[in-house]
Amino acid sequence: MSKKLVLLACAVAALSTAAFTAQADETNPNIVHRQSIYKIAAGHMGNLKAALFLKGGTENLVWDAEGIVDAFKHMGNAYPEGSDKGETKAKSNIWTERAKFDEAGKKAFGAAVALVEVTKTGDAAKSVDAFKALGAACKACHEDFKKD
Ligand code: HEC
Repeated sequence: MSKKLVLLACAVAALSTAAFTAQADETNPNIVHRQSIYKIAAGHMGNLKAALFLKGGTENLVWDAEGIVDAFKHMGNAYPEGSDKGETKAKSNIWTERAKFDEAGKKAFGAAVALVEVTKTGDAAKSVDAFKALGAACKACHEDFKKD
């Protein structure tokens, strides 16, 4: 390994240790996994905000929108029985109102798919509308099913 590569490897190792330490208290893989997926979605939302509202470059709009769809596809069985206990902000009604929770998830997924389609057309104004619709779907679920 060149010196540069070794330095890079160290930096990456330090970064992942920091990320792990932040969640070290939580040992339930479902909780750590779902929170990480939401962080990925939120990261893409931040990029979209930079591009659409802060006059950032728009070349990654489709990638960010697709990234959210892809992240949601990898949620898997993120809320099994028993994963209401731990370092989680999931409200207990997720397990008693599962149909309503799943509906909120489907709505957000649909809004993310719609955002992909719109960003592909390159229409900035419509992309803003689709971004807002997705943001509203995230928020709606948080209001009902996520602790502050
Ligand atoms: C179907 C419901 C639902 C939808 C839709 C949803 N969320 Fe969440 N979100 C939750 C719940 C529940 C939690 C708490 C998870 C936990 O702590 O175990 C959460 C947690 C989060 C977190 C905190 C993760 C952490 O660091 O612990 C972020 C950020 C987040 N969501 C962003 C988003 C964004 C952005 C969207 C839309 C693109 C979105 N969420 C859509 C239910 C939802």
